[in-house]
Amino acid sequence: MKKITIAIDGFSSCGKSTMAKQLARRIGYTYIDSGAMYRAVTLYCLRNGIIGADGSIDTVRLRGEMDGIDITFRTDSATGRPHTFLCGEDVEGEIRQMQVSEHVSPVSALPFVREALVRQQQRFGADKGVVMDGRDIGTTVFPDAELKVFVTADARTRARRRYDELRAKGVEADFDEILRNVEERDRIDQTREVSPLRRADDAVVLDNSQMSLEEQDKWLLDHYEKAVAKTYGRAD
Ligand code: DC
Repeated sequence: MKKITIAIDGFSSCGKSTMAKQLARRIGYTYIDSGAMYRAVTLYCLRNGIIGADGSIDTVRLRGEMDGIDITFRTDSATGRPHTFLCGEDVEGEIRQMQVSEHVSPVSALPFVREALVRQQQRFGADKGVVMDGRDIGTTVFPDAELKVFVTADARTRARRRYDELRAKGVEADFDEILRNVEERDRIDQTREVSPLRRADDAVVLDNSQMSLEEQDKWLLDHYEKAVAKTYGRAD
């Protein structure tokens, strides 16, 4: 099969991972959630006292331990969903919790963290056939990706989606706190020095504020087929 690389970037909680996962399943590609990798590093820091009670990060220690922070993905045989593993332990649930969300932006702003994870992401996608979502996939990780999508939705819509998602899992949630977290992460992600969140010049924009899941899945599949046709002459 003629494979391409698909980069899906955008703001937090705008449904990137849902659409990326769905497309990967549909076309038989590997899905990689790059945000989960930054979350796993953050969880490691929280568990090991690298992030202090005041939120400060012991960057000297983290730099020294970075090589030993092993992050892998495995498909859960019961659900068919990808799970994130930190040093061999399934941390998929824990990395989605609020405590990790609150600390992940400053961790992901550290240049040495980004360098290490970008290298690993490039290894994951070396053979193409990958759908990766994140903030800098089309700009930094795979600047030559054949399909780049930049997803956006207004902040309240995104906060509402995250709130509903947490409540559906039975997790206590406060809408205003989630909205503040969404806005704060937008700010940090867009203004950090290394690989800030921005649309790649050649990315297609998808504002899904008013779209159903079915509509966005169809939109993405159409763009995938066009990108394959443009790259190889026809979709197969
Ligand atoms: O997509 P997410 O919300 O799970 O991502 C968690 C955090 O990781 C987000 O605040 C920004 C950061 N991130 C990043 O800096 N670069 C990426 N490629 C993916 C995520």
